[in-house]
Amino acid sequence: MNPVPSTTADVPAAREARVGEAQRRRARDLLAQRDAVLVAHYYVDAELQDLALETGGCVADSLEMARFGRDHPARTLVVAGVRFMGETAKILSPDKRVLMPDLEATCSLDLGCRAEDFARFCDRHPDRAVVVYANTSAAVKARADWMVTSSCALPIVADLKARGRRILWAPDRHLGRYIQEQTGADMLLWDATCVVHDEFKGIELELMRHEHPRAKVLVHPESPSSVIAQADRVGSTTALLRAVTEMEADEFIVATDAGLFHRMQQMAPGKTLMEAPTSGAGATCKSCAHCPWMAMNSLSKLEQCLQGRGPVIELDDDVIRRARTCIDRMLDFVATHPGSITPAPGGFVPNLGAA
Ligand code: 13P
Ligand code: SF4
Repeated sequence: MNPVPSTTADVPAAREARVGEAQRRRARDLLAQRDAVLVAHYYVDAELQDLALETGGCVADSLEMARFGRDHPARTLVVAGVRFMGETAKILSPDKRVLMPDLEATCSLDLGCRAEDFARFCDRHPDRAVVVYANTSAAVKARADWMVTSSCALPIVADLKARGRRILWAPDRHLGRYIQEQTGADMLLWDATCVVHDEFKGIELELMRHEHPRAKVLVHPESPSSVIAQADRVGSTTALLRAVTEMEADEFIVATDAGLFHRMQQMAPGKTLMEAPTSGAGATCKSCAHCPWMAMNSLSKLEQCLQGRGPVIELDDDVIRRARTCIDRMLDFVATHPGSITPAPGGFVPNLGAA
């Protein structure tokens, strides 16, 4: 017999919970029937992250998502994230079917770097090594010498500099400037930003730090330099997650997408996490620090895409071949310099409760 709800307000909540559980069960069954694995980013809905871990998939940053998808034996990869992540999965596993809950889920960095404009930029500087961030289209990657993610951009650019190379960088200008400052490399920067990280405010962060003097500040390097300058740790989503589990502090101010808080709180349940400010106290319009495109992924869309076996990522064979070179270079570098990146807490594939 079903338990009787204690108030009338509990009735819709209880119904919602039952619908959610039924949906999760159907999604679990469909993943198994379709020989599919769920590859999720830390910024998607908490229920998708939990489902990925419960079903043997992964919740990870963009570098780990790429490696996990490439190495997993499943014939179908379901990428819960944004389009460039699905495209990277397809480029690395052209024989697998790559599904996404919503193909419209894109990224402001990808939108801000059109392949034709980028090709003209490269044509003007043929002597430079072309390094692109993962957050770009397959067509842009097809023109690059190197792809990097926030996990490995620093050591790769430092290595290129040590070999005397000058660099053409695209598209995130904050990350580009941070790498330039850290490595001293000669870098020409494209001018695009992330709509989420660009909103964090240095002056407001200073005030918040005064109110919480014991809090450590964790910053994703897509944030403005005034925010990065105040960080106790700068790093990829995985590096920030690791910082929360490893650092002695009990309080953290976190400048990255709010979606990461779910996994952070699971890995470090006793710690207090605060969102870094995106505006002053009196502001009438305030960014929610959550990527609108990551938010397009939902359990219902996941179920629909597994049921209908689509939408599916399709790429031209020639683009796959040309884009693959720069991704393979990055993966080979990471494999041969294992100490240069921060591994996820609990190992390559994060496990629930493995802190
Ligand atoms: P990560 O490589 O750290 O996962 O970053 C991807 C991203 O889109 C951050 O906004
Ligand atoms: Fe792109 Fe920013 Fe969204 Fe990451 S958070 S996918 S960089 S828009």
